[in-house]
Amino acid sequence: MAATGGRHFLQIPGPTNVPDRVLRAMAAPTIDHRGPEFAELVRELLPALGPVFGTTRPVVVYPSSGTGAWEAALVNTLSPGDRVLASETGHFATLWTELAGRLGLDVDMIPGDWRHGADPAAISERLRADTGHAIKAVCVVHNETSTGVTSRIPELRAALDSAAHPALLLVDTISSLASIDYRHDEWGVDVTVAGSQKGLMLPPGLGFTAVSDKALHAHRETAGLPRAYWDWTPILAANGGGYYPYTPATNLLYGLREALAMLAEEGLSAVFARHQRHAAATRAAVRSWGLEVLCADEREHSGSLTAVLLPEGQDADAVRRVILDRFDMSLGTGLGRLAGKVFRIGHLGHFNDLSLAGTLAGVQMGLQLAGVPIKPGGVEAALELLK
Ligand SMILES: Cc1ncc(COP(=O)(O)O)c(C=O)c1O
Repeated sequence: MAATGGRHFLQIPGPTNVPDRVLRAMAAPTIDHRGPEFAELVRELLPALGPVFGTTRPVVVYPSSGTGAWEAALVNTLSPGDRVLASETGHFATLWTELAGRLGLDVDMIPGDWRHGADPAAISERLRADTGHAIKAVCVVHNETSTGVTSRIPELRAALDSAAHPALLLVDTISSLASIDYRHDEWGVDVTVAGSQKGLMLPPGLGFTAVSDKALHAHRETAGLPRAYWDWTPILAANGGGYYPYTPATNLLYGLREALAMLAEEGLSAVFARHQRHAAATRAAVRSWGLEVLCADEREHSGSLTAVLLPEGQDADAVRRVILDRFDMSLGTGLGRLAGKVFRIGHLGHFNDLSLAGTLAGVQMGLQLAGVPIKPGGVEAALELLK
């Protein structure tokens, strides 16, 4: 890599850039997680987390990656052999259902082209046909980080309601929480899964599940998958006193407190609008270059990242390599079946107009240096929109 001054541009769609305020908040002595100061921190943190999820119900925080929170959502609500319905929106929807299969769940995956969100009509059809209510949960990735496509959760909720189907609705918001409008309670979601390393502007290391009353009931009355570390019951009991039944990630929780304060200062609706605006400016750039945005439905463009499809015969990873070598910027690679075909621009978390301008300038120069035939006006198109 070329030696450069200035900061690395970390423009993958998570982990995202951690604000200095959050870094400073984490650089504090680790305290006794069974002492009074820690209990005070937790009693302050847990209620402050609710608004970010759009919930007044419990949010369980794990020292884990997002994958751990995926597992927690399943083992706390389902039993061996239970059927779960999912939509193949991309790489992460696929990985979640593979994990479900390894836990002994029976997955019905509605095939997809990785350019659209979960189809409410297809889900509705499956639910209506399931008159015996064998399907116990519908699993959806709100924002597919591999494709830059957002699924329309209120329409999926309506599909469950209009079929009068009792399945739980489990939603992965790992790359949408605190970036794209999301409402756990209002949208009738039963378990919302999240992670620390994207919209929450923290390093990786915290996993979250927000839990509805219905999910808690399923957890207590019916769920029979083996669970130990992920079990909500002892965690919720300990949380009541401000504690955890294991050693929590104390310093990440300091960071979380600071990140939540930053989000509250900006206001969540302003945070969502900022992400939408940067996403629109990014699409303006991509289209001006004469390239294609992977997301194929105008209603489903992601606010937090944009996947850029390269013309046949061009290697997206070669473009990423040039950009890393020359401009010290990391972009997201193509995952699964999109390997080599797309690169992904993360525009989420701690990010502003000039971060976007710099990011798009690096992408434009990198495309040109890598020999991808583009029209040159992309950056200007984005700047026009930002002005
Ligand atoms: C939508 C989505 N779900 C799940 C995951 C997996 O999370 P983790 O890598 O933190 O385990 C990711 C990671 O990027 C993701 O973007």
